[in-house]
Amino acid sequence: MSFNTYIQDNKKRFLDELFDLIKIPSVSAVNEHNNDIRTAADFLLNQFNKLGLDNCEICETKGHPIVYAEKIIDKDLPTVLVYGHYDVQPVDPIELWDSAPFNPVIKKTDIHPEGAIFARGSCDDKGQMFMHLKAIEVLNNNGGLPCNVKLMIEGEEEIGSDNLELFVKENKEKLDCDIIIVSDTGMINKTTPSITVGLRGLAYLEVELTGPNRDLHSGLYGGSVANPINSLAKMISSLHDENHIVTIPGFYDNVIEYSESQRQHDSNVPFDLNEFKDSLKISDVQGEISYTTNERRSIRPCLDVNGIWGGYTEEGSKTVIPSKAFAKISMRLVSNQNWKEVSKLFTDYMKNITPKGMKIKINEHHGGQPYLNSTNSKAYKAASQAYTKVFDKEPFAVKDGGSIPIIAQFEKELGVKTILMGFGLDSDAIHSPNEHFGLSNFYNGIETIANFYKLYSE
Ligand code: BES
Ligand code: MN
Ligand code: MN
Repeated sequence: MSFNTYIQDNKKRFLDELFDLIKIPSVSAVNEHNNDIRTAADFLLNQFNKLGLDNCEICETKGHPIVYAEKIIDKDLPTVLVYGHYDVQPVDPIELWDSAPFNPVIKKTDIHPEGAIFARGSCDDKGQMFMHLKAIEVLNNNGGLPCNVKLMIEGEEEIGSDNLELFVKENKEKLDCDIIIVSDTGMINKTTPSITVGLRGLAYLEVELTGPNRDLHSGLYGGSVANPINSLAKMISSLHDENHIVTIPGFYDNVIEYSESQRQHDSNVPFDLNEFKDSLKISDVQGEISYTTNERRSIRPCLDVNGIWGGYTEEGSKTVIPSKAFAKISMRLVSNQNWKEVSKLFTDYMKNITPKGMKIKINEHHGGQPYLNSTNSKAYKAASQAYTKVFDKEPFAVKDGGSIPIIAQFEKELGVKTILMGFGLDSDAIHSPNEHFGLSNFYNGIETIANFYKLYSE
């Protein structure tokens, strides 16, 4: 039987099982969902057992558990480690969802006339991670696994993977492998596959600027003391110059510069600026001078305010000069920036430009190093052939703007590279209301992964 035939014969059950997983609201950021996190981990454990894997276990951490299993068929064969995450992002703003986030439904869209699964986690990452379990099932029923496999699915990716980092450090032997494969990124469009060879790193900080010791009457005091919100706004706007270049001294010091020929080569990746603008309902784009939109969101670092607040924000008006202003600021980093170093540059600079008479406090949230891979490895070539087989097109090698902090950590601790075999689309709205994942992406993904094992082991 071919892989495709097996998938066709079992497609309904594959979907039902994925729905059962998606229905568990395993939001890692919210304590209220700790029981759901457990339920999701137990669900996976059960699935691993059903696949006939060995040493299936729930590995406790200081936070949410890691689910692990393996099948060692022959110590002389190569070993593939699969990583994914079963935790999902919070659902708010809930009122913008057209259907309940944890009640998956199939709906047709322009891009997915055959239907897409609408639910939180359908793409990021339950749908994509689950493809790996089903690919193993496909192989089990079509001649058996051609190599050894280890699976490690965590519950804290969306909150920074701190405990997984520790787990990897402490379990190097257990996790020993030849290659890591992950489906938690995207492809160019439904019929144009790509393999991700670059991920941006992340530095995320929270700033608190304090002026007077209490909120003040904005008539009695207005104009005579510095207003922390005005000051923070000014400080933040000074972080970019008129060419949208980040002004923090040293920010670009270690940024990898690509040659003209490499940039030329990367510009062959299909990208339509008008489509991009249309999809976001914006009439123009903005970013670092001298770089294309695609470059700005892949090979260049950036700085963005993710949230800003302070003072009176409730209904109506209250005349007040606030005592404090706050902002959450992220920086997406590229090789060879180091997130700890960049966080320090940011902190030092912000302290430097704090107006006299004000106090600044800066807290580091999580971070992660950028990741870069080449297209020369045996594993990359196997992945490329697997995509070509299923999509009838050779995949492009692309650098993505998002971050998966543990991938660089795998390389550092285990000395092993990761092949990012993503099947999501930008239009899937991950982290947003109405997240979805195309049915064809799901089934093609399963087939591609199954083919990867076969080609990699040959
Ligand atoms: N799967 C995403 C990352 C991603 C998506 C990379 C699409 C490339 C293409 C992952 O779950 C994610 O959301 N990562 C976070 C970082 C984390 C530390 C919260 C991100 O990129 O914001
Ligand atoms: Mn993800
Ligand atoms: Mn995510």
